Amino acid sequence: MTDAVRVWDPLVRIFHWGLVAAFATAWLTADELQPLHEIFGYIVAGLIAFRILWGLFGSRYARFTQFLRGPGTTVRYLSDALRGREARYLGHNPAGAVMIVAILLTLSGTAFTGWLIADPSRQALQPELPPIVTTAQADEDEYGESGERGGEREEVLEEMHEVFANLMLFLIALHLGGVAFASVRHRENLAHAMVTGRKRPPEPGDIA
Ligand code: HEM
Ligand code: HEM
Repeated sequence: MTDAVRVWDPLVRIFHWGLVAAFATAWLTADELQPLHEIFGYIVAGLIAFRILWGLFGSRYARFTQFLRGPGTTVRYLSDALRGREARYLGHNPAGAVMIVAILLTLSGTAFTGWLIADPSRQALQPELPPIVTTAQADEDEYGESGERGGEREEVLEEMHEVFANLMLFLIALHLGGVAFASVRHRENLAHAMVTGRKRPPEPGDIA
């Protein structure tokens, strides 16, 4: 592939594989090695903050304006994909773009709820829980007063933290399925392209 074109800049690639490593470490240390869990959770949060800035000011294929498309284009892309006639995109395809937004939002939610649990004083930042949540949680409340460790706010936050983390596993499975599908359909190893940054040059009909 001597004539391959540069698509993913080095920072996008470092971001991607750094995120994979940091997420995996945060996941594996959860409930096992709490200090490491929090450090890697903060690394995930830092990577996301960087990616949002890079989506605004980064290189061509890193920018949100390059790859975010409207719902019409996204639905058309998915229905074309089902019929086996979707266009090849040099950058992220419209379905991949939705996945990127979903991953960034879900990881932000995971990191934010983790940050709130890690120090009970931060839970004072939360608005009062609606009565229905308070009642539902009351039975499970092991330690009584709200705000104490094990209190109802903390229970709800822990639940949310785990729901976000589990949602990530689901998104990652879909993400890997999408990467495998597009790699087979367009006969290029997209995971390898995320390592080298290079892809086959656009052909007629491709969207560059
Ligand atoms: C070994 C497993 C993984 C492989 C092989 C992989 C592969 C890829 C590939 C090929 C792309 C580019 C897709 C395209 O061509 O449009 C991509 C993008 C992306 N992946 Fe993964 N991925 C993996 C795991 C993950 C995990 C675990 C996460 C989240 C924790 C993740 C988050 C992302 C994000 C956010 C992007 C967008 C990249 C950007 O533009 O900054 N990936 N991945
Ligand atoms: C963003 C990546 C993160 C992932 C994937 C993640 C995942 C998880 C999971 C799955 C658990 C449940 C463990 C269990 O009880 O079995 C957990 C617990 C916890 N996480 Fe995270 N977390 C992340 C970030 C953070 C951050 C940034 C913090 C705080 C700075 C944090 C603080 C905590 C705390 C304090 C618990 C224990 C809650 C409890 O007592 O049940 N996490 N995390």
